[in-house]
Amino acid sequence: MKFFIDTADLDEVKEAQDMGVLDGVTTNPSLMKKAAEKAGRRLDFHEQIRQICEMVEGDVSAEVTAVDFDGIMAEAHALAPIHPRVVVKVPLILEGIKAIKALHSEGIRVNCTLCFSPTQALIAAKAGAAYISPFLGRVDDISFSGLKLLEEIITIYGNYGFETEVLAASIRHPIHVLEAAMMGAHVATMPLSVIKKLLKHPLTDIGLEYFLADWKKFRA
Ligand code: G3P
Repeated sequence: MKFFIDTADLDEVKEAQDMGVLDGVTTNPSLMKKAAEKAGRRLDFHEQIRQICEMVEGDVSAEVTAVDFDGIMAEAHALAPIHPRVVVKVPLILEGIKAIKALHSEGIRVNCTLCFSPTQALIAAKAGAAYISPFLGRVDDISFSGLKLLEEIITIYGNYGFETEVLAASIRHPIHVLEAAMMGAHVATMPLSVIKKLLKHPLTDIGLEYFLADWKKFRA
C-alpha cells in the first residue's frame, strides 16, 4: 500500500518524508488555504506544488478549480508541466469526466476526486483516471459507510481489470487505513497525525520503558 500525505504544508511533507515511508502527496484547495494561513501569507499555488514535487519522489496531486471542460483543460495544461510527477486532480462531475477522457488521451494523469458512489468510480475508470479518490470520512459523516464504498469500488475494478488505482481519501483514523489495506486499496492518503498514529502502541512504550529500566540495573 502506498502512503500519501494529505497536505499542502511543506513542514508536514518534510516530516513525513523524513520518516522514510512517504510515497506521494495529495493537495486540494482547502489544504492550500490552510497552508497559506499557517504561513501567514499568500502562497503561489504552482510554486507550492513545484516545491512539494522537489521534496518527495512520488506523485503529487494538484487540483483544478474550474468546473467547465475548457477551464479544466486549461488549468490541467498549466499544472501538468510543473513537474513530471504532477497528477491533475479533477472533480467527479460531467465536465470533469469529459476532461479526464481528453487528458488521458494526451497522456496527462488525473486523480478523480470527490467520489462518493461506486457508479461514479466506474465512470471515472472508464474515462481513464489514473486514481479514484473515494472520501471515506465524509461518507461516514452522513451515516453511511465509507469503507463499504471502498470495498464496492475495489470489487468493481477487480471484476473488469481497470488500471485506475484506488486512493482511499478523507481518512480520519488508523482503522480506515487498516481496513483499506485489508481490502487491497492501492493508496491511502492521510493527514500527518494519522500517519503518526499508525505506529503508536501503548504496550510498545511500556515495554520499552521496562527494557531500558532493566538495562540500567544490569549495567549498574
Ligand atoms: O483527500 C481528501 C481530503 O483532503 C478530505 O479530507 O477530512 O476534509 O474530509 P476531509
